[in-house]
Amino acid sequence: MANKILEKRVLRSDLFYFRIEAPELAKKAKAGQFVVVRADDNGERIPLSLANIDPDRGTISLLVQTIGVTSTKLSTLSVGDEIKDIAGPMGHKTPIEKYGRVILVGGGFGAAPLYPIGRAMKEAGNTVISITGARSADLLVYEKELGEFSDKVLISTDDGSKGHKGLVTEVLKNEIEANGADLVIAVGPAIMMKFASLTTKPYNVKTLVSLNPIMVDGTGMCGACRVSVGGKTMFGCTDGPDFDGHLVDWDLLMSRQRTYLVEEKEAMEAYTCSCAPHS
Ligand SMILES: Cc1cc2nc3c(=O)[nH]c(=O)nc-3n(C[C@H](O)[C@H](O)[C@H](O)COP(=O)(O)OP(=O)(O)OC[C@H]3O[C@@H](n4cnc5c(N)ncnc54)[C@H](O)[C@@H]3O)c2cc1C
Ligand code: FES
Repeated sequence: MANKILEKRVLRSDLFYFRIEAPELAKKAKAGQFVVVRADDNGERIPLSLANIDPDRGTISLLVQTIGVTSTKLSTLSVGDEIKDIAGPMGHKTPIEKYGRVILVGGGFGAAPLYPIGRAMKEAGNTVISITGARSADLLVYEKELGEFSDKVLISTDDGSKGHKGLVTEVLKNEIEANGADLVIAVGPAIMMKFASLTTKPYNVKTLVSLNPIMVDGTGMCGACRVSVGGKTMFGCTDGPDFDGHLVDWDLLMSRQRTYLVEEKEAMEAYTCSCAPHS
């Protein structure tokens, strides 16, 4: 059976971990890349980052946050079920080399790409510091996993129930001021990546972000995922997903994500209108 689910874990009520049999993908994929997944025959294709790549066991891992139809469908699959299609690996791998002191900043499903990236950075001889945050301690995920390779894991919670009371960007600033950094990699919601990039800019620390614009085909054909980086139009799927966070036009990215919501709503209304039975 292709793409059989071998392991499933519920990390949070809206976040699920899957380990999946995919030997060919596991041989080819590198840290930072993503796959495009279809849950079943009638499903849409959605991009998901690789949360682990294990060529020896022939498996890949994915973290799925339930947002809409497809992610919810995926979340209901169980061990032994098959995921219809997994295409990839897509996008460029993260440039892994010896930078010195690398700080990873994660939020939500951002822990997924950070896990293989951080492990590869450690293997390349870097000191790796991981920073992860949530609204409260019970919503934190992947702390233990990031601890497998990190020299230090720093936590922040909005309510102060664990670690620093406040935002991950405050922890990032404190860490840079105390110990410096040669590279920061931030993965999570666009707003978090924007403020992580703004935090590192005054210290002139190179900052990579893994962008998650709306994607349709994931192959560079439709243009849905276009982003502006350093004044140039680029495609998240084929030029990314990693970009220099200091050069990303964050307001455009976030306004395109919002526009999509409006367009989607208008399209649904038009659809309902033209197809509704006339009274
Ligand atoms: C490169 C990349 C890697 C990603 N990695 C992961 C991952 O590892 N785990 C994970 O859970 N999610 C990941 N995502 C986001 C994931 O692809 C979307 O949540 C998913 O497409 C939503 O599909 P759906 O059918 O569940 O929801 P839909 O019904 O399609 O959408 C529900 C709502 O979510 C919004 N939405 C859809 N896609 C996105 C997006 N990319 N960014 C922001 N809002 C969106 C839509 O506007 C819509 O209103 C990634 C996205 C990209 C581009
Ligand atoms: S998703 Fe279509 S060009 Fe990137």
